[in-house]
Amino acid sequence: MNTSSDTAGLRAVGGQRISGDSSYFTRYEVTAKVTQGLGIRPSEIRKCLRTRVLGQAGVYFRSLASTNDVAKQLASGGMREGTIVLAESQFRGKGRLGRKWFSPEGGLWFSVMLRPRIEPKHVLKLTLLGSVAVVKTLSKLCGIRAEIKWPNDVLITKRKVCGILAETGIKGKNLEFAILGFGINANLDLAAFPRNLRNSATTLKTHLGKEISREILLCSLLENAEVCYDLFESGKFEEILDDWRKLSGFLGSHVRVLDGQRTIEGIALDLDSDGALIVRLKDGNVHKVISGNVIRVIRASRSEEDCNWIS
Ligand code: BTN
Repeated sequence: MNTSSDTAGLRAVGGQRISGDSSYFTRYEVTAKVTQGLGIRPSEIRKCLRTRVLGQAGVYFRSLASTNDVAKQLASGGMREGTIVLAESQFRGKGRLGRKWFSPEGGLWFSVMLRPRIEPKHVLKLTLLGSVAVVKTLSKLCGIRAEIKWPNDVLITKRKVCGILAETGIKGKNLEFAILGFGINANLDLAAFPRNLRNSATTLKTHLGKEISREILLCSLLENAEVCYDLFESGKFEEILDDWRKLSGFLGSHVRVLDGQRTIEGIALDLDSDGALIVRLKDGNVHKVISGNVIRVIRASRSEEDCNWIS
């Protein structure tokens, strides 16, 4: 992992001056004051985090437009690998495919900045890695058996509890940085969701019947993500793919893929070595999907739709 700590150009972020002092980036900066006693405590994160790099520096906001956007600005300014941007709420949270992501107080919304030495086309691998880390975390920490819907939606009882958005910064032909943004519906009541999302979304609070510590959830997720990222960096992405296959519960499903103007339907057969989804079409042909919205067709009359996406 690259741990360079060049902090030039990191003065004004998201409209707020966050710091001009390079030593600041070794600590958590609290720019947020949450009045309702609900707030994430960065000091707790510092105490419980057992990683080498991921989350070893971070910025914490009460509210911002999108943690991914701030992370991108920080990354362009030279922020060191592993830095996280964490927020109590986002007012322009972003989902995949240009959608808006519902992200009020109570969720776990954060982005982590990575500097992998890969070509931009391999960024899909990072999102798969992120979803494996989330499923492992929910299993170890909460005893929840979650599933993954390709590429990286994490579902509990077929409802979406977490989405991951990868964005990149590219210099010439090379990837300068990748931002992995995690949106976990943690301590939220479903009643707080817009009505049209309530059937397709779930929250950890709803599933567990109680709130969980978001600091512990974050630390555990960063630890699992770091293990996966180290495997990836040492050329062992096959191991992540094997975990994805075991944990996803998705392969063998009847799927509908909406890819731009085109819709295809078939059986999700496997992932190729880059993480693309291999679908066998009705006519027996095989099609590789590298992006798009994939819906699992459960019965002729019902299909899973994604959640937290607001129009
Ligand atoms: C999806 O569409 O499934 C991806 C949702 C990703 C949401 C997270 S919340 C933290 C980070 N900041 C954003 O604006 N989006 C991601």
